[in-house]
Amino acid sequence: MLNFSYWNPTRINFGKGTMAEVGKEAAKWGKKVLFHFGGGSIKKNGVYDTVTASLKAAGLEITYLGGVVPNPHLSLVREGIEICKKEHIDLVLAVGGGSVIDSAKAIAFGAKLPPSEDVWYDFYMKASPVVRDALPIGVVLTIPAAGSESSTGTVVTDAEHGLKRAVNSETIVPKFAVMDPETNYTLPAYQTACGATDILAHLQERYFTTVEHNDLSDRLIEACMRNIITNAPLALEHPNDYRYRAELMWTGTIAHNNLLDRGRIGDWATHDIEHELSALYDIAHGAGLAIMFPAWMKYVYKVDIDRFVQWAVRVWDVSLPLSDKEGIVLEGIKRLEAFYKRIGMPTRLSDLKIGKDKLRFMAENSLVGERTHLGNFMKLYADDVEKIYNLAL
Ligand code: NZQ
Ligand code: ZN
Repeated sequence: MLNFSYWNPTRINFGKGTMAEVGKEAAKWGKKVLFHFGGGSIKKNGVYDTVTASLKAAGLEITYLGGVVPNPHLSLVREGIEICKKEHIDLVLAVGGGSVIDSAKAIAFGAKLPPSEDVWYDFYMKASPVVRDALPIGVVLTIPAAGSESSTGTVVTDAEHGLKRAVNSETIVPKFAVMDPETNYTLPAYQTACGATDILAHLQERYFTTVEHNDLSDRLIEACMRNIITNAPLALEHPNDYRYRAELMWTGTIAHNNLLDRGRIGDWATHDIEHELSALYDIAHGAGLAIMFPAWMKYVYKVDIDRFVQWAVRVWDVSLPLSDKEGIVLEGIKRLEAFYKRIGMPTRLSDLKIGKDKLRFMAENSLVGERTHLGNFMKLYADDVEKIYNLAL
């Protein structure tokens, strides 16, 4: 186990009816709130009205900024930054999913930058940018998926140049997240499945490490993986059953609040490989991960076959003779693919009608900026990334 430091300051208010408390939480951070949201689902399911009423009851002034799209755009971030400066906003409140939260995080630190610094070129396009300051961020989460409600990350797309990039910083971890699983009842089945796939991916990224003797984290991650594998199909079958929604929602937070990768180094190549796909083809992040994770696994498992054997046995209950390591691993990958299919995810690029033509371009694009390689379990360069895309055809 490596040395580590762990700090996660997000207050989580979880459960039925917690949305009514958002005003009280928000009031701790000032008077003027930027209410940031997406394409309208919150207006249909009542979340918009409930949150507005709670903020008003707490005496807060609201400025609305809607229109965040999945794979959120830099252009709206820039608009939000200007609004925050002009209106002297105290708190950026994201009401929605990962896209809204990530856009809110970008706005929150962008609003604190001096005119000499640019949110995109000086941060998203840098390898290890240091975010010095940000407006406080609050969250009302409506979809369990990205884990952004208590993560250090924000992922934004420069649609003009087809680039999707992340910034990670403790400065932008939300101050609070209100999480009511009942808000998830209106999620389309496809979004529920994409969310479950993303949660599972965050666990897989952390699981595949070359750091040895980090057993507690292994066991915790395995428990979370099994919880998703059990509860995602149940949530799809019974979309209005609180129990399954609650399991997915809490696991989604735990999977990505950095608790599970203390003392180890996760991989994250598959996320970077996927981000090229969702930037270029505007597909859901979860769907892209279901396609790319099996391909990545097939390419890298020989780096540490024993780790993959452990995963296949403990997570997927593969019970072939232990001498047949390769057979066990391939069976584990097969069961993962079968799970993705069962919940309605694509598992090949061809399922989304994506052909060969842009694979080299995406492989090279994945290393544009200050990146030298992708991943940690195995360091990947453009040729490797292209081969992994080919395995996913
Ligand atoms: O825009 P609206 O109308 O709200 O519809 C959204 C959107 O179309 C809909 N939705 C959300 N809650 C709903 C609902 N529809 C009905 N009922 C509800 N309760 O779902 C669609 C997807 O929303 P989105 O926010 O895009 O989903 P998700 O949470 O999966 O976020 C994806 C983004 O997060 C990034 C991804 O790359 C992607 O851009 N990620 C962010 C991370 C982070 N910040 O730490 C880590 C992740 O690995 C990921 O990369
Ligand atoms: Zn993800």
